[in-house]
Amino acid sequence: MRSSTLSLIVAVGAMICAAFPTELTNFLLVTTSQADPNPDPSELQAVAATSLYDPFHQPALILRLIGSGYNSLPNFTLTDGTLSSVALAPFNGGEKLYNSTIVEAGKELQFLASPQPAGNMALSEGYLLTVDGEEEGWTICNGLLGSEVLTWKGTTDGCADTYVHAVTKAPY
Ligand SMILES: *[C@@H]1O[C@H](CO)[C@@H](O)[C@H](O)[C@H]1NC(C)=O
Ligand SMILES: *[C@@H]1O[C@H](CO)[C@@H](O)[C@H](O)[C@H]1NC(C)=O
Repeated sequence: MRSSTLSLIVAVGAMICAAFPTELTNFLLVTTSQADPNPDPSELQAVAATSLYDPFHQPALILRLIGSGYNSLPNFTLTDGTLSSVALAPFNGGEKLYNSTIVEAGKELQFLASPQPAGNMALSEGYLLTVDGEEEGWTICNGLLGSEVLTWKGTTDGCADTYVHAVTKAPY
């Protein structure tokens, strides 16, 4: 191959790589009203950080929006369509690896401290969290104790549409 052709291929390859965020292995999840990414998560429209919690010491943890007063934010990995994160189990159960369950319409995004089958989530273009390939359908719904929780296709009163982005630094 002539070297000019090769350098063209290399240049095009570099452009393609630069156009998309690099593959994330360990990321935070934020909600935002915009679909487009922003290298600075704090600039995302109506951005909110998320945190795992269990309102009533139930087995499944869910994801709620959290303001700036947090101690730390959970980070996630995505393998075989399933999100995983280390979290404290209820009743002083210590740190466990929580795995997301299959996402279903009208239900909260849930995590259990047990192995789960292959899930139905993915990161479109490396950052936009999808369910069964759909980017739209995430909603922020009113949860217990005044919390706002991430739900897939929530239809109860007060649910608001959102996008979920994987980001590498906290928005605030
Ligand atoms: C991810 O979270 C775990 C548990 O809180 C923490 O130990 C680890 O340092 C975090 N990793 C990154 C890359 O932030
Ligand atoms: C979460 O799933 C992974 C992969 O299936 C598994 O290794 C891990 O044990 C699961 N977490 C718990 C607490 O069982």
